Amino acid sequence: MSEIASSTENLETENPQADLASGGATVDTVTEVPVAIVGAGPAGLMLAHRLHRAGIDTVAIDLRTREEISTTQRAGIIESDAAMDLVELGVSDRILRDGYEHEGVDLRFAGESHRIDFKDLVDASVWLYPQTDVFIDLADARDRDGGKVYYGITDPEVRDIESSAPTVRFTADDGTRHEIRARYVVGSDGSRSMCRHLIPEGERKQYFREYPFAWFGFLTEAPMSAPELVYAHSEHGFALISQRTESLQRMYFQCDPTENVDAWSDERIWETMQARVAGADGFTLKEGPVTEKSVLIFRSFVQQPMRWGNLVLAGDAAHTVPPTGARGLNLALHDVKILAEVLERALGSEGEAALADYEPRALNRVWRAQNFSYWMTQMLHTPPSASPFDIKRQEGELDNVVSTRAGRTYLAEQYTGWPSHG
Ligand code: DHB
Repeated sequence: MSEIASSTENLETENPQADLASGGATVDTVTEVPVAIVGAGPAGLMLAHRLHRAGIDTVAIDLRTREEISTTQRAGIIESDAAMDLVELGVSDRILRDGYEHEGVDLRFAGESHRIDFKDLVDASVWLYPQTDVFIDLADARDRDGGKVYYGITDPEVRDIESSAPTVRFTADDGTRHEIRARYVVGSDGSRSMCRHLIPEGERKQYFREYPFAWFGFLTEAPMSAPELVYAHSEHGFALISQRTESLQRMYFQCDPTENVDAWSDERIWETMQARVAGADGFTLKEGPVTEKSVLIFRSFVQQPMRWGNLVLAGDAAHTVPPTGARGLNLALHDVKILAEVLERALGSEGEAALADYEPRALNRVWRAQNFSYWMTQMLHTPPSASPFDIKRQEGELDNVVSTRAGRTYLAEQYTGWPSHG
């Protein structure tokens, strides 16, 4: 074990005049820490939190400002195991007050709703709690625990990942230059990851799929239209009814990937949404002003390997799923649960060899989630080329899911998450 690996304290040297960094460039500070984390979204910060609890210090950096991360709308569903981790690992218990436990979802097709009762089928539930709140809780926990996080950085550089002394350099938001000397570097830098490109081109394999549609997501100041999520298939395209609070709702509808949000007035949005949920039961959405709108691109993506030398990828940096089924954040949190355990072992007596455990355990769930997200997406969306036969076939598939306990259980098991592998 190297000296740095055994250190559980930041060693920060401040000497603006000195040529401290390896490689000759001047930096203002050099910090030695066991783990450097590139990407301070929920995956990076949850990893930092878990490692802190194990007595392992980290420094995390992110190109985005804290404000930017906490206001960018993302998914809203987390598995109950991940929700309970936030509480039990001391991040925050706010989810218990501000979140909503959901014991099922509705699948709606041919104008009728069919409830998938998670509690009854698999004795599980999920929590409606936006990713922005998960981030805010984790960022506050870092502050409370004295964790070092630099937001709004520029010019990140990761070097020497094949050596036992990789470094991360960056410019902080105040213009100062910093170097982190770590034993391990974690790339949790999201779907536009720079870290994933550090794995040599000839060694990495990228699995990729695009879709001929996207989601138009919006927030609306309106009361809840349904107590749980409604995933609606219709001949006009897919719609998803989600919630945020009693007075703020989150909804999505299938659109063209090149759609321009400015072309959508509130009236046009509501007309589209109402048409997609209409049915003989008279279900209608409670309307209100639209306060935020954006287009979400669909992509299925996995890069392997998830580790190269002393660099390890986690979350969207290694894999992206289309949003249907809300697997993205859950997968990322699962990655870092395994990774925290593996890094703790690697920094202890087992050394670097322990890292070999990470990828197979993480990937098992990644590919199952890739299949689930793909399956939900193709079952519920109507491609631009869909024929009347295709729509009817999808209704047949949905009927197969909701009409038997086996079908409903298959969906419920995957929506609520799988047990950790290994
Ligand atoms: C939400 C997003 C999803 O992708 C999903 O499947 C369910 C809910 C949301 O933002 O609430």
